[in-house]
Formats: sequence, C-alpha cells, structure tokens
Amino acid sequence: MSAADVATLALAELDRAPAADLAPHVLDVATGTGPAALAAAHAGARAVGLDTEPALLRTAAARARRAGLAAMARFVVGDAAELPFPADSFDAVLSTFGVMFAPDAHRTAAELVRVCRPGGIVAVASWTPTGRWAGSPRPSPGTWTGCRAHHPRPAGANPGTSGRGSHRFP
Ligand SMILES: C[S@@+](CC[C@H](N)C(=O)[O-])C[C@H]1O[C@@H](n2cnc3c(N)ncnc32)[C@H](O)[C@@H]1O
Repeated sequence: MSAADVATLALAELDRAPAADLAPHVLDVATGTGPAALAAAHAGARAVGLDTEPALLRTAAARARRAGLAAMARFVVGDAAELPFPADSFDAVLSTFGVMFAPDAHRTAAELVRVCRPGGIVAVASWTPTGRWAGSPRPSPGTWTGCRAHHPRPAGANPGTSGRGSHRFP
C-alpha cells in the first residue's frame, strides 16, 4: 500500500459520491514531500498537503511544479491535531504513514473527521504493531495497514466525535 494507492482508492470511492461533477477537494495530512497529495492532484483533485516541517513542504511544492501540478496542489504548515480549516472543508482527507506520529491520536482522528464533509472519505494508512512490512515474511512491530471511514453524519451528532464505520483496504 503506497501513498498513491491510498489517494487512488479514496478518489475512486468519491466517484460514487453525489458531488462527483466537481473536482474533489483533498487534504493530505502529514504530507511530508507530498506523495499522496501529488497523486490526488495528478488524478484531477484540488489537493492541499499539510505538515509540521516547512523544509519537506518546500520539496513537495517543488515536486508539484516539476510535475506541472502547481495549480492543483498547494502545501501548508500545520499540526494534524489542530487543522487550520473550517469543518466540512474537504471531500477526502488522507494520511499515509503520517498521523500515526501525532501524540494525541483521539484528537487527531477527530480533526480528520471534522474537516471532511459528511459523506466524504477519510483514508489512513499506518504501521500497526501486528502487521508485516510489505513484501517481507518477517514479522515486525512496525508495519502498515490501511483503513478508510465513511461518515454520513447522524443528525445532531457532534461532527468531531460521532461514530464512523471503517473498512480495511484489501
Ligand atoms: C513517515 S513521514 C510520511 C510522509 C508522507 N505522508 C508519505 O507518505 O511519504 C511522516 C510525516 O509526518 C509528519 N508529522 C509528524 N507529526 C505531525 C503532526 N503532528 N502534524 C503534521 N505532520 C506531522 C512529519 O513531519 C513527516 O513528514
């Protein structure tokens, strides 16, 4: 499961969403040098990559320029636990091997959900304690799995904490 895989799967799921006629607005949290954001932009989304590290974001922006994607991908400094966006700002919120580093997992997860519109996709790939490195038979305490969450928001629910279904990527 690569960052591009996560972006592709999330966008494929969005194709079945009601607002599919608009270019989807995608946030990649803890974007690093931007692989998921750039994959989303390459697929036609308007992408925002967020990270705490300005130097990584400069590299991401340079990659976007080199790929001719500067108009579709922008990069901002920020913390996953306090996303600088209003509620419901994005059609899809991604994080690939990123938000697992945020110290407050519950607060960070609530932020991912808050900024994703109802019916949007939250897709996260993370290493897990019981998984394996991709392609390796060696058990490892640090490897990955991916999940995505749909959240048709129940009426009256707190947008930051309402329950969500989840689904493991194949
Ligand atoms: C292993 S890299 C993954 C980068 C990229 N998502 C990828 O798939 O290659 C982890 C990234 O998480 C970022 N990060 C860690 N804690 C963060 C936080 N609280 N908020 C935003 N970004 C964070 C790091 O700066 C780093 O760029």
